[in-house]
Amino acid sequence: MSEYKPDELRGHTYDGIEEYDNRLPNWWLFLLYGSCIFALGYWLVFHTFKIVDLPLAKYDKEMIAAAEAQLARMSEGGMTDESLILMSTMPETVADGKQLFTTYCVVCHLDQGQGLVGPNLTDRYWLHGGRPSDILRTINDGVLAKGMAAWGGQLGPTRVQKLTAYVVSIKNTDVTGKAPEGEPETADDEAADEATAEVETGNG
Ligand code: HEC
Repeated sequence: MSEYKPDELRGHTYDGIEEYDNRLPNWWLFLLYGSCIFALGYWLVFHTFKIVDLPLAKYDKEMIAAAEAQLARMSEGGMTDESLILMSTMPETVADGKQLFTTYCVVCHLDQGQGLVGPNLTDRYWLHGGRPSDILRTINDGVLAKGMAAWGGQLGPTRVQKLTAYVVSIKNTDVTGKAPEGEPETADDEAADEATAEVETGNG
């Protein structure tokens, strides 16, 4: 123990208040330097090297995992409108679908689905129904008499589902292209689609 030294005053006064010139206690210094080291480590781990996800990125990953798990549960009994709408909100699935669309479909439906030989897939009019399950069925079974192949046999169920998810994602985006063909989707159908999409993704 160091010998007792009386508190020393610093040489200024303000409104009658004076200040001791004491060394700060060790516990206080420990907290200060500790916080500095922690902050540096935190910065390197989360921001510089991104070794650990920040909360928002973690949240996004959890939401995607949850959507995938939900989809797996829903598709046990076959694809439904709900599960296809859910797929159309999953960025990776839609990106895969777009890739497939670019490979197999653009010759007739053009790059944004706006239509050439095949109909415009972005308008509100459908020859074979605009519900996600209708779209899946049309892609899967084709319309052989009109030159649209039955893609199910060639691409298999997973790729047909991804293509459907992509088509559902561009549906009603109204890209200018081929004039509408078929029947307009009724307001009821659209309301049902939207209501389901909201429930499934939780984006109320
Ligand atoms: C050789 C040209 C051709 C190719 C390639 C093609 N389609 Fe089509 N598609 C058509 C035609 C033509 C129709 C309209 C059929 C009719 O008139 O009944 C159609 C219709 C559709 C429909 C229904 C539209 C509606 O209004 O109901 C969907 C969905 C569709 N195609 C998706 C696809 C997808 C996805 C691919 C790629 C895997 C694809 N098509 C590739 C020619 C094509």
